[in-house]
Amino acid sequence: MTVMLAPMEGVVDHLMREMLTEVGGFDLCVTEFVRVVDQKLPAKTFYKLCPELLQDGKTKAGVPVRVQLLGQHPQWLAENALTAVELGSPGVDLNFGCPAKTVNKSKGGAVLLKETQALYDIVHAVRQAVPDHLPVTAKIRLGFEDKSLAIDNAVAIANAGASHLVVHARTKTEGYRPPAYWDWIARIKQHIDIPVIANGEIWSAQDAQRCRQESACEDLMLGRGALALPNLALCIKHHQAPMAWPELARLLIKYSGYEIYGDKGRYYPNRIKQWCGYLKRQYPQAELLFNDIRRLNHADDIVKVLRRQSSQEYVA
Ligand SMILES: Cc1cc2nc3c(=O)[nH]c(=O)nc-3n(C[C@H](O)[C@H](O)[C@H](O)COP(=O)(O)O)c2cc1C
Repeated sequence: MTVMLAPMEGVVDHLMREMLTEVGGFDLCVTEFVRVVDQKLPAKTFYKLCPELLQDGKTKAGVPVRVQLLGQHPQWLAENALTAVELGSPGVDLNFGCPAKTVNKSKGGAVLLKETQALYDIVHAVRQAVPDHLPVTAKIRLGFEDKSLAIDNAVAIANAGASHLVVHARTKTEGYRPPAYWDWIARIKQHIDIPVIANGEIWSAQDAQRCRQESACEDLMLGRGALALPNLALCIKHHQAPMAWPELARLLIKYSGYEIYGDKGRYYPNRIKQWCGYLKRQYPQAELLFNDIRRLNHADDIVKVLRRQSSQEYVA
């Protein structure tokens, strides 16, 4: 079984990828999207979102990181896809699922799900540009407002030459609200020959098992679930027990050490607070932690609180 770490703009950046792939269980990561409008982007744009390009396109733990592009113009996407792979990305992923208004207004992301031909044209152009031995992959939702084009869209993407398709099993209108319609992935799968990866609403090993049954997919992509439970991929693959809080607190302390990679001071405090929002789902202690650190703006002060927690004082 392959388990992928989902792209999450503003959340799963290179430091988070580093942490989560070190915990283990992930076979592939996808970057936050690189927005392509009407020009060839400079190398620095790619390095910023994907510093792993400087280390052979892999995290320190050795997990490949694929650059994701978002845009509407086949030719500009193709040119930038070529740049991404020339810089060392192990293939290119195309985003057809982003619900953000600004992105959709400029006809990128999920709004393209209304235009099956546009999906075909984009995947085809990018496939032509990227050398054959490197994958061109796509990530979709089930539709924009409804699911009427779900199968046509998947077929178009497969016919255009995509190497695999990730399906986030909800429409744009359904946002991130449960449930995810995993059975729709099984329907899609019946119509295409390329590998399909199921995504959406997998928070536990039990969810993963149900998702695999309902979607008929071997392979999974984990987003928010991996932030709520950092060893979720290992729980799914190797029946590992969910990580205990003291261990997680130690992981959060370790994260503070990652600051040396160009932190401007506020990165760690802000990110830890954001991460607590996801962790709360799995760990009641994360709520206590958040309350204790909400007014702290220095990494050192936050680490002091975490050290108390990791010494088990706070274990619920
Ligand atoms: C904050 C946030 C940012 C996201 N950014 C991206 C992105 O850059 N590219 C993308 O394809 N999907 C993005 N997604 C969607 C996720 O990759 C994933 O499809 C979605 O969260 C459903 O999976 P989950 O239920 O496991 O979280 C984002 C989701 C969230 C919550």
